[in-house]
Amino acid sequence: MIVGIGTDLASIDRIAATLHRFGDRFRQRVFTETELSQADRRQDVVGTLARRWAAKEACAKALGTGLRMGIAWREMAVSNLPGGQPTLHLTGWAAHRLNALTPPGHDAVVHVSLTDDPPWAQAFVVIEARPRGTVEKAQNGAPTPEWGP
Ligand SMILES: CC(C)(COP(=O)(O)OP(=O)(O)OC[C@H]1O[C@@H](n2cnc3c(N)ncnc32)[C@H](O)[C@@H]1OP(=O)(O)O)[C@@H](O)C(=O)NCCC(=O)NCCS
Repeated sequence: MIVGIGTDLASIDRIAATLHRFGDRFRQRVFTETELSQADRRQDVVGTLARRWAAKEACAKALGTGLRMGIAWREMAVSNLPGGQPTLHLTGWAAHRLNALTPPGHDAVVHVSLTDDPPWAQAFVVIEARPRGTVEKAQNGAPTPEWGP
Protein backbone atom coordinates (compact mmCIF):
# COMPACT_ATOMS: atom_id res chain seq x y z
CA MET A 1 0.00 0.00 0.00
CA ILE A 2 1.07 3.60 -0.59
CA VAL A 3 1.62 5.52 2.65
CA GLY A 4 3.16 8.72 1.27
CA ILE A 5 3.80 10.68 -1.91
CA GLY A 6 5.77 13.86 -2.49
CA THR A 7 6.97 15.92 -5.42
CA ASP A 8 9.22 18.91 -5.91
CA LEU A 9 10.33 21.18 -8.71
CA ALA A 10 13.60 22.98 -8.01
CA SER A 11 15.19 25.84 -9.91
CA ILE A 12 18.72 24.85 -10.94
CA ASP A 13 19.57 28.55 -11.23
CA ARG A 14 18.49 29.13 -7.65
CA ILE A 15 20.64 26.24 -6.43
CA ALA A 16 23.55 27.68 -8.43
CA ALA A 17 23.03 31.08 -6.82
CA THR A 18 22.84 29.56 -3.33
CA LEU A 19 26.00 27.56 -3.96
CA HIS A 20 27.73 30.71 -5.16
CA ARG A 21 26.58 32.72 -2.16
CA PHE A 22 26.97 30.22 0.68
CA GLY A 23 29.46 27.72 -0.80
CA ASP A 24 30.54 25.01 1.62
CA ARG A 25 28.12 26.10 4.34
CA PHE A 26 25.20 25.21 2.05
CA ARG A 27 26.87 22.09 0.65
CA GLN A 28 27.68 20.66 4.08
CA ARG A 29 24.31 21.50 5.58
CA VAL A 30 22.24 19.88 2.83
CA PHE A 31 24.26 17.09 1.18
CA THR A 32 26.10 14.03 2.46
CA GLU A 33 29.77 13.46 1.69
CA THR A 34 28.73 10.72 -0.75
CA GLU A 35 26.34 13.03 -2.60
CA LEU A 36 28.96 15.78 -2.76
CA SER A 37 31.75 13.56 -4.02
CA GLN A 38 29.45 12.05 -6.65
CA ALA A 39 28.39 15.50 -7.85
CA ASP A 40 31.99 16.74 -7.88
CA ARG A 41 33.02 13.88 -10.18
CA ARG A 42 30.42 14.93 -12.76
CA GLN A 43 30.42 17.65 -15.37
CA ASP A 44 27.01 18.87 -14.28
CA VAL A 45 27.70 19.50 -10.58
CA VAL A 46 24.87 21.98 -10.03
CA GLY A 47 22.25 19.91 -11.90
CA THR A 48 23.23 16.83 -9.89
CA LEU A 49 22.88 18.73 -6.61
CA ALA A 50 19.60 20.33 -7.76
CA ARG A 51 18.08 16.89 -8.49
CA ARG A 52 19.14 15.73 -5.03
CA TRP A 53 17.73 18.89 -3.45
CA ALA A 54 14.41 18.18 -5.19
CA ALA A 55 14.56 14.57 -3.94
CA LYS A 56 14.97 15.72 -0.34
CA GLU A 57 12.08 18.18 -0.57
CA ALA A 58 9.86 15.55 -2.21
CA CYS A 59 10.84 13.02 0.46
CA ALA A 60 10.01 15.45 3.27
CA LYS A 61 6.57 15.85 1.69
CA ALA A 62 6.12 12.11 1.33
CA LEU A 63 6.98 11.74 5.01
CA GLY A 64 4.10 14.12 5.67
CA THR A 65 6.15 16.62 7.65
CA GLY A 66 7.75 18.94 5.16
CA LEU A 67 11.03 20.12 6.64
CA ARG A 68 9.58 20.65 10.08
CA MET A 69 9.72 18.37 13.09
CA GLY A 70 13.50 18.17 13.08
CA ILE A 71 14.15 16.37 9.80
CA ALA A 72 17.58 17.36 8.50
CA TRP A 73 18.43 17.49 4.81
CA ARG A 74 21.35 15.13 5.21
CA GLU A 75 19.07 12.48 6.72
CA MET A 76 17.61 11.91 3.23
CA ALA A 77 20.46 10.75 1.00
CA VAL A 78 20.37 9.85 -2.69
CA SER A 79 22.64 7.26 -4.24
CA ASN A 80 22.45 5.34 -7.52
CA LEU A 81 22.18 1.63 -8.29
CA PRO A 82 24.50 0.17 -10.96
CA GLY A 83 22.04 0.94 -13.80
CA GLY A 84 21.73 4.56 -12.66
CA GLN A 85 18.40 4.22 -10.83
CA PRO A 86 18.33 6.54 -7.82
CA THR A 87 17.57 5.33 -4.29
CA LEU A 88 16.87 7.25 -1.09
CA HIS A 89 18.32 6.17 2.23
CA LEU A 90 16.85 7.67 5.40
CA THR A 91 18.58 8.06 8.74
CA GLY A 92 17.93 9.86 12.02
CA TRP A 93 14.60 11.54 12.50
CA ALA A 94 13.60 10.93 8.86
CA ALA A 95 14.02 7.18 9.43
CA HIS A 96 12.07 7.48 12.67
CA ARG A 97 9.26 9.23 10.79
CA LEU A 98 9.34 6.53 8.08
CA ASN A 99 8.91 3.86 10.77
CA ALA A 100 5.98 5.77 12.26
CA LEU A 101 4.27 5.80 8.84
CA THR A 102 4.75 2.06 8.34
CA PRO A 103 1.93 -0.14 9.63
CA PRO A 104 2.83 -3.03 11.97
CA GLY A 105 3.95 -6.14 10.09
CA HIS A 106 5.13 -4.12 7.09
CA ASP A 107 8.43 -2.79 5.76
CA ALA A 108 8.79 0.56 4.01
CA VAL A 109 10.11 0.89 0.47
CA VAL A 110 11.02 4.41 -0.66
CA HIS A 111 10.78 4.96 -4.42
CA VAL A 112 12.38 8.01 -6.01
CA SER A 113 12.52 9.27 -9.59
CA LEU A 114 14.59 12.25 -10.74
CA THR A 115 14.75 14.29 -13.91
CA ASP A 116 15.68 17.72 -15.14
CA ASP A 117 15.05 20.01 -18.05
CA PRO A 118 17.08 23.11 -17.22
CA PRO A 119 16.30 25.40 -15.54
CA TRP A 120 14.18 22.90 -13.63
CA ALA A 121 15.01 19.77 -11.67
CA GLN A 122 12.19 17.51 -10.55
CA ALA A 123 11.70 14.64 -8.13
CA PHE A 124 8.91 12.29 -7.20
CA VAL A 125 8.95 10.15 -4.07
CA VAL A 126 6.51 7.38 -3.23
CA ILE A 127 6.61 5.52 0.07
CA GLU A 128 5.19 2.03 -0.08
CA ALA A 129 4.51 -0.33 2.83
CA ARG A 130 4.91 -4.01 1.93
CA PRO A 131 4.06 -7.00 4.10
CA ARG A 132 7.17 -7.96 6.08
CA GLY A 133 9.39 -10.49 4.33
CA THR A 134 8.46 -9.42 0.80
CA VAL A 135 10.92 -6.55 0.47
CA GLU A 136 14.18 -7.24 -1.36
CA LYS A 137 17.18 -6.33 0.74
CA ALA A 138 18.48 -3.63 -1.61
CA GLN A 139 15.21 -1.73 -1.34
CA ASN A 140 14.81 -2.03 2.37
CA GLY A 141 16.24 1.32 3.33
CA ALA A 142 19.69 -0.27 3.42
CA PRO A 143 22.59 1.92 2.39
CA THR A 144 23.28 1.34 -1.27
CA PRO A 145 26.77 1.66 -2.64
CA GLU A 146 27.72 4.56 -4.80
CA TRP A 147 27.85 3.19 -8.31
CA GLY A 148 26.62 6.06 -10.43
CA PRO A 149 28.85 7.98 -12.81
C1 LIG B 1 17.18 5.71 -17.58
C2 LIG B 1 17.20 6.75 -18.71
C3 LIG B 1 15.94 6.60 -19.55
C4 LIG B 1 17.30 8.13 -18.10
O1 LIG B 1 17.22 9.09 -19.15
P1 LIG B 1 17.84 10.54 -18.99
O2 LIG B 1 17.27 11.43 -20.02
O3 LIG B 1 19.31 10.42 -18.85
O4 LIG B 1 17.28 10.93 -17.56
P2 LIG B 1 16.98 12.39 -16.99
O5 LIG B 1 18.03 13.34 -17.49
O6 LIG B 1 15.56 12.73 -17.20
O7 LIG B 1 17.18 12.13 -15.45
C5 LIG B 1 18.42 11.79 -14.93
C6 LIG B 1 18.13 10.93 -13.75
O8 LIG B 1 17.51 9.72 -14.19
C7 LIG B 1 17.73 8.77 -13.16
N1 LIG B 1 18.07 7.48 -13.76
C8 LIG B 1 19.19 7.16 -14.43
N2 LIG B 1 19.15 5.88 -14.79
C9 LIG B 1 17.99 5.37 -14.33
C10 LIG B 1 17.39 4.09 -14.38
N3 LIG B 1 17.99 3.07 -14.97
N4 LIG B 1 16.19 3.93 -13.81
C11 LIG B 1 15.57 4.95 -13.20
N5 LIG B 1 16.10 6.20 -13.11
C12 LIG B 1 17.29 6.38 -13.68
C13 LIG B 1 18.86 9.27 -12.28
O9 LIG B 1 18.30 9.63 -11.03
C14 LIG B 1 19.36 10.47 -13.02
O10 LIG B 1 19.81 11.51 -12.19
P3 LIG B 1 21.10 11.25 -11.27
O11 LIG B 1 22.09 10.51 -12.12
O12 LIG B 1 21.55 12.62 -10.89
O13 LIG B 1 20.64 10.43 -10.10
C15 LIG B 1 18.42 6.57 -19.61
O14 LIG B 1 19.57 6.98 -18.90
C16 LIG B 1 18.61 5.14 -20.02
O15 LIG B 1 17.87 4.56 -20.78
N6 LIG B 1 19.65 4.57 -19.52
C17 LIG B 1 19.94 3.22 -19.82
C18 LIG B 1 20.01 2.46 -18.53
C19 LIG B 1 20.86 1.32 -18.79
O16 LIG B 1 20.90 0.79 -19.89
N7 LIG B 1 21.58 0.91 -17.75
C20 LIG B 1 22.57 -0.05 -17.88
C21 LIG B 1 22.03 -1.42 -17.62
S1 LIG B 1 22.14 -1.89 -15.96
